[in-house]
Amino acid sequence: MTTRDDVFSELGIGPVWRLREAAPEQTGVAPCTWESLAVAVARCTACKLSATRTQGVLGVGDRNADWLIVGEAPGAEEDAQGEPFVGQAGKLLDAMLASIGLARGNNVYITNVVKSRPPGNRNPEPDEIAACMPYLLAQIELVRPKLILALGRVAAQSLLDTDEAIGRLRGGVHRFRNIPLVVTYHPAYLLRSLTDKARAWEDLCLARRTMQSLAPDS
Ligand code: URA
Repeated sequence: MTTRDDVFSELGIGPVWRLREAAPEQTGVAPCTWESLAVAVARCTACKLSATRTQGVLGVGDRNADWLIVGEAPGAEEDAQGEPFVGQAGKLLDAMLASIGLARGNNVYITNVVKSRPPGNRNPEPDEIAACMPYLLAQIELVRPKLILALGRVAAQSLLDTDEAIGRLRGGVHRFRNIPLVVTYHPAYLLRSLTDKARAWEDLCLARRTMQSLAPDS
């Protein structure tokens, strides 16, 4: 079994990856390419999810996007198709993006914290999140988004390195390595909780305002 440190060193990622406030050059993430990343994810055995997944699901969309959308982990349909957010939650995500004038693949890149499907769609466990974090960091390095939208508790807590509840994390603009980060509810949760849809709309408007407030070349 490949250890997390093996994955880290293969991608040139040092042990200080948790320094989310640090500039990229201080985090020890060495340059990697989309091709090497795709191969690394496809071959990854750094956690137990590799034994049950069909395939690793790296991400989809515009690799030079201003918007980076980060979900939790692939579900059954994503595991089968190799693309994030293709199921019911994905349809709602597309509608959420459309509501603020965005579309999958057009200035938007979509990925998950964890690239392999947890069996039975359970939440990813902390060791699985830690093992997969180098891939997300590498994607952030490659895309260099202007804004990150974290969907749901797992994405928000993992990126912000906190145990704070999602209700307390949403509503403000956080920073991930100096990139503005907005938290909203996960679309799969919104499918079950109509009352929080209005709050999600507020979050999307906050994200759009934040993006609009950024200098064009920032
Ligand atoms: N939920 C997620 O968090 N990600 C997906 O890709 C699909 C459902």
